[in-house]
Amino acid sequence: MAFIKGLFKTSVRRKNLMAVTGLFTAFFLIIHLLGNLILILPDSFFPIEFWGNVANQHDMYNAYSHFLVHFWPITIVAYVLYIGLALHVIDALIITLTNWKAHGEKYIKTDNSTSTWHSRNMGILGSIIGIFIVIHMGQFWLQYKVLGTEHDLYELVVGTFKQTWVVIVYEIGIISLGFHLAHGILSAHRSLGVYPASIMNVMKYIGLCFAILMAFLYGIIPLIIYFQ
Ligand code: HEM
Repeated sequence: MAFIKGLFKTSVRRKNLMAVTGLFTAFFLIIHLLGNLILILPDSFFPIEFWGNVANQHDMYNAYSHFLVHFWPITIVAYVLYIGLALHVIDALIITLTNWKAHGEKYIKTDNSTSTWHSRNMGILGSIIGIFIVIHMGQFWLQYKVLGTEHDLYELVVGTFKQTWVVIVYEIGIISLGFHLAHGILSAHRSLGVYPASIMNVMKYIGLCFAILMAFLYGIIPLIIYFQ
């Protein structure tokens, strides 16, 4: 308990914790995307001669999800992810409350001329993503992984993305994620101070490209399924 409390003790520690948990979640997003891209690849991508016992998108997606649940190293990584996400949210709340308190007491006037809209609204974007993740995990993770009420994950996901409201909620969540990442990736590297200033300028563009790519690829999955 003392160790956990220590993580939040100083503003430098809070920023570093935010950076590490955020970057770990961004890494999860890459792996998660690779698995879910199966949903929009044509059956011709999965020739039986190459993959052995799977011959189409449906079988491949279910084989992938079966592997996720039954391969124990993935289970450990998943628990690290849940803890990382929880720490990221708690840290964000503490940082926001501390900033509000400081602004209230000292009447600090912030200069917005050099910051972007999304860098000033990370809290709002994070809250939208938080609501999205709760809905998302309730729809898939809870039913498939926890309750075990659904065994054909492919059918569950495709059926879910045939509903208009779901697609709208996903697009809002994913666009917010894109903006959150556009500032978050750069900010995390800045907090950790791992690179000299010259490389940080390049990091700005790498972070932006990563954010656009993630938002685009995640965003087209529900749309393609909805319209096909
Ligand atoms: C439209 C694209 C997406 C699809 C089709 C999708 C699909 C799924 C499915 C089927 C599961 C349950 C099985 C599993 O654990 O992998 C899941 C879990 C999860 N998803 Fe997604 N997802 C998408 C986007 C996202 C996004 C954008 C985020 C983050 C903001 C996210 C975060 C998570 C998390 C945290 C879990 C629980 C992970 C675990 O237990 O290992 N997903 N997703």
